[in-house]
Amino acid sequence: MEEKGLKEFFDQMAPKWDKMSRTNEVGIRTILQLTGLEENEKILDIATGTGVLIPFFMEYDPKAITAIDISTEMINLAKEKFKDQNVDFKAVDFLNLQEKGFDYLMCYRSFPHFADKKAAVEKFYDCLVPGGRFVIAHTEGKEATNKRHASQPVGKYTNALIPVEEEASLFENLFDLDILVDTDKFYIISGTKK
Ligand SMILES: C[S@@+](CC[C@H](N)C(=O)[O-])C[C@H]1O[C@@H](n2cnc3c(N)ncnc32)[C@H](O)[C@@H]1O
Repeated sequence: MEEKGLKEFFDQMAPKWDKMSRTNEVGIRTILQLTGLEENEKILDIATGTGVLIPFFMEYDPKAITAIDISTEMINLAKEKFKDQNVDFKAVDFLNLQEKGFDYLMCYRSFPHFADKKAAVEKFYDCLVPGGRFVIAHTEGKEATNKRHASQPVGKYTNALIPVEEEASLFENLFDLDILVDTDKFYIISGTKK
């Protein structure tokens, strides 16, 4: 995949994003429940886009939410949508994020857009408290995700999802993996920091 132009691509997608992308409410709540999100946690939403997950995180009465995206336009829209909520939105490349100490880190519908997956996984580790949880999640299966990406311009900025058992090897040294889901409806990899 290409990295050059990725930010600009998502910047120009931002105004259309909420109309284009479907919010699977049941699927999102299932992921948060399955991965054991608890009240009063410090959450990091990586590649938040326009903040689709924010209302669902709020149901857990979090201690704090930091929501970041490389696209300034996505973040500007998210800030406007959730201006009454206490969320720290930041336009930053995840690999350059300075903040640490998160209990729960979510990477929803965005892991395929990280060119250097190993660097992203090491950064997950850096950002979490000991025992903190990372979640990579998609509310559709890998075949559907890969097919959609391959047929659209975003494909240029995307790696294909591979079977979770194969992807797991990237995480095993740093995390205790306890959730691997690879079905027609979900793709989830999750575990806690060793
Ligand atoms: C498919 S969108 C998903 C957005 C949101 N999570 C959702 O599900 O609606 C992928 C997002 O990843 C962001 N992104 C890609 N690479 C990133 C990086 N290195 N750091 C932060 N965000 C990134 C893009 O700007 C884009 O908003």
